[in-house]
Amino acid sequence: MKEIAKRYIKDTDITKEEWIELLGCAEDPDTVQGLAKEAVRIRKQYYGEKVYVRGLIEFTNYCKNDCYYCGIRRGNLHACRYRLRKEEILDCCREGYQLGFRTFVLQGGEDRWFTDERMAEIIRAIRETYPDCAITLSIGERSKESYRLFRQAGADRYLLRHETANERHYGTLHPSSMSLAVRKQCLHDLRELGYQVGAGFMVGSPGQTLNCLAEDLMFLKELKPHMVGIGPFIPHHDTIFAKEPAGSVSMTLYLLSLIRILLPQVLLPATTALGTLDPKGREKGLSVGANVVMPNLSPVQNRKQYDLYDNKICTGEEAAECLVCLAQRVQRVGYHLVHERGDAYGIEKEPIL
Ligand code: 5AD
Ligand code: FES
Repeated sequence: MKEIAKRYIKDTDITKEEWIELLGCAEDPDTVQGLAKEAVRIRKQYYGEKVYVRGLIEFTNYCKNDCYYCGIRRGNLHACRYRLRKEEILDCCREGYQLGFRTFVLQGGEDRWFTDERMAEIIRAIRETYPDCAITLSIGERSKESYRLFRQAGADRYLLRHETANERHYGTLHPSSMSLAVRKQCLHDLRELGYQVGAGFMVGSPGQTLNCLAEDLMFLKELKPHMVGIGPFIPHHDTIFAKEPAGSVSMTLYLLSLIRILLPQVLLPATTALGTLDPKGREKGLSVGANVVMPNLSPVQNRKQYDLYDNKICTGEEAAECLVCLAQRVQRVGYHLVHERGDAYGIEKEPIL
């Protein structure tokens, strides 16, 4: 194992130059394996063999933003738009609950039809019907007041990937109407409001360098999010990045190990994007430090329409099929799915501000 990796295991407080050096070891088998082993050791220490499941409900693919990498960006006129009604969302939850899900993730584009009031009403309905479940939102940037309203309505967690912590790179991936500063402000607001917060980024997105990744990891170290979502960039045919190469699976796996060591208690999903690029991607993710999977609970007829990137997996399966499939995959690598909320460590009952 390279010297810098040994040092990282002892103390993750390393300089930017050292981060870049560490990230540069992604091709060194001894280092990759050594860090994965340490990541798995830490993961077992906190979570044993448990893998948490989150039921993902993709409830709208309308979006007011135009992120250059994303298939549901506003500018994509080929996207076939849909939004679920409150009752349909509740149907997904009912099915999920019966299957044992105790976390529902409401994910969508930044769809203005879902005003604060409409969102709050949906959250309240889920909260009342399923008091024992966690509600996670993944609906992009909103004001602190909106986030407060959702929290009061019963939301527990919020996923908002920062996408890249490097200003220039952020500008490569997004139009000038969007800014990294706003994204960071949202993450801080969410944390202040007592949400369990998830940040994250794509691996191998166009223009990403080791310097960018070093900044991503330094940002995570500072923010200390409860959850981190990373997955390889996958080109979407209707975007300006259609011809760009996809991110690498091995680099994603290496980063999962580094993140587990950096934030020992973090909730770290083996993502759908990882499973899309490699048929064994999610299993490999679990074997290097990930401890969460997020099967799809969206209605099958809408799955293909939530088209962030090409060839997304699990778009034809019913929720129950997906769950059985995942349970088997998880077991094959020595872990097991659990039907628990799976809150972040140290979260008892956060006061609702
Ligand atoms: N490839 C991989 N991941 C993507 N996302 C959006 N578009 C793509 C793509 N082309 C990710 C973003 C977003 C999350 C919901 O999906 O990181 O935050
Ligand atoms: Fe969805 Fe395998 S996890 S079909």
